[in-house]
Amino acid sequence: MPLFNVYPLYNITPVSAKDVYVYDEKGTEYLDLYGGHAVISIGHAHPNYVAAISNQVAKLGFYSNAIQNPLQVELADRLEAVSGCKDYELFLCNSGAEANENALKLASFVTNKSRVIAFKNGFHGRTSAAVAATDNPGIIAPINAQQKVTILELNDIEAVKTELEKGDVCAVIVEFIQGVGGLDIATKEFFEEVDVLCKANTTFFIADEVQSGYGRSGKFFAFQHYNVTPDIISIAKGMGNGFPIGGILIHPCIEAKFGMLGTTFGGNHLACAAGLAVLNTLEEEKLMDNVNEMSVYFIEKAKEIPQIKKIKGKGLMLGLEFDFEVGDLRKKLIYEYHIFTGGASNKKLLRILPPLTVKKEHINQFFEALVDVLKN
Ligand SMILES: Cc1ncc(COP(=O)(O)O)c(C=O)c1O
Repeated sequence: MPLFNVYPLYNITPVSAKDVYVYDEKGTEYLDLYGGHAVISIGHAHPNYVAAISNQVAKLGFYSNAIQNPLQVELADRLEAVSGCKDYELFLCNSGAEANENALKLASFVTNKSRVIAFKNGFHGRTSAAVAATDNPGIIAPINAQQKVTILELNDIEAVKTELEKGDVCAVIVEFIQGVGGLDIATKEFFEEVDVLCKANTTFFIADEVQSGYGRSGKFFAFQHYNVTPDIISIAKGMGNGFPIGGILIHPCIEAKFGMLGTTFGGNHLACAAGLAVLNTLEEEKLMDNVNEMSVYFIEKAKEIPQIKKIKGKGLMLGLEFDFEVGDLRKKLIYEYHIFTGGASNKKLLRILPPLTVKKEHINQFFEALVDVLKN
């Protein structure tokens, strides 16, 4: 049976990986500055992670959400401690889209409203309400387009105010650093005013931290760079370092009811073991300090390259903007220099999303290659 052909693929077949390196079947080493799309947080095949998953699967990999699962409780407690998000409650699922889907559903349930405000160039996943809130008509099928979503420009606070005052908006969903769209960030004033407007209009403020969370921005969550209190925070990607796990942190103003949300696989034993290993390693290895240090170093090096017109993003969620499309540049980096980087909807932007363990020597390796490619 052929695979349903939805992905344009690079002709590379990774078979193993260690920390920031990925190896193909011939043993060729690739520097991973893409992190499998911002997923690898504590590094590929981290020994704590391998041990935690291996030990757990040998004991109990899965049982449904009909029984006590102390690993979920431990994960929620560790997440509260490491993220600093006090008093939120945790619902576990399996992916970023599912996290946003649950966030939007919860907002609609509790406010009894149904329209969503989202932003230009935003990306929230490919399921029903999440994809409807994504600014890409090419991935929205007619069934998704039935959702009531209004897409506004980032920083247009007057438009947000006008829409919220109409009284039918259940949620405003935002990425505090846009990922797929190209690393744009709204102003501090905008984020903080949206937060106030949401509270004044009984609208839930949803922080989509699927990509920017788990330390990638230099703080545990990107919204923590601002004075805001999201009602719901969606998480995935770095949360499992590659193991499929997602979730939403839910503000205590929202009361749970049996049956309101649910999932078969979400929060299973193996996923929790992976999630715990990630949180413990992030803390033990002080990876957020490394993110901040390496971010400064990376930006300094980027500033030395005249072809780079803009450096965007925060922490290790960075974008280098050129005045030409970067498709060929990415191909050369991968095939000739064996370095993975990311692209964005903005075709002139090279995205840098390495494991949070990346070191100066890896950044130097990238810039040496980049200078070399740009010469030719
Ligand atoms: C900000 C953001 N939200 C949601 C998603 C969807 O996550 P998933 O692909 O795990 O469904 C992504 C994926 O790239 C994302 O970047």
